[in-house]
Amino acid sequence: MTTSKAIFEADFYEVDMTRKIGIFASGSGSNAEQISNYFQNSNDVEVVAFFTNSANAGVIERGRRLGIPTIVFGPEGVKNNAVLGLLNKLEINFIVLAGYLKLIPESWVEAYPNRIINIHPALLPKFGGKGMYGMNVHRAVVEAGETESGITIHFVDSRYDEGKIILQKSVEVNPNDTPEEVQKKVQVLEHEFFAPTIEKVVLG
Ligand code: GRF
Repeated sequence: MTTSKAIFEADFYEVDMTRKIGIFASGSGSNAEQISNYFQNSNDVEVVAFFTNSANAGVIERGRRLGIPTIVFGPEGVKNNAVLGLLNKLEINFIVLAGYLKLIPESWVEAYPNRIINIHPALLPKFGGKGMYGMNVHRAVVEAGETESGITIHFVDSRYDEGKIILQKSVEVNPNDTPEEVQKKVQVLEHEFFAPTIEKVVLG
């Protein structure tokens, strides 16, 4: 009895509770960098790797500089489940999308239920859906004469920008703001709120 209790306790001692994150980014990667800096000294959360489907993505250079392995994959890697296999192998618990534009396959959503988190640079459900990314979003916001825009952090399902909303933050849009100015304001919100929101979700 005493022996088995000792083994039981020892087993518990060995369990690694670190939550491992993989960040998918195909743009400049400024959010990916911000998130990895945020968790740099965390004992609970680790950014294990960056993933990108664009050989020109800024995140590749950022990964090199930050010492974070960056995996570049093509459409075949998604189709034949090599990317999903790698996520498994790296024991990644949560997927973060920070400028990844492709639709997430059903198999990933099933493997990571409520464990895939995206940030959208507008206040969903407005200005979401296929083709609504980057400057397209900010241009549409300005053209529509919106008085505010912002960020939406949400879980991902297999439809564009429709998963359950986790957090929204808004910022004022002035009548003379250009799309570039709106983008800058929204990016300030992204860098302030994305990492702490991921932390809350990941740590439950
Ligand atoms: C951000 O605007 C984010 O909201 C969207 O993609 C953009 C990525 O920007 N999903 P960056 O590459 O992190 O600078």
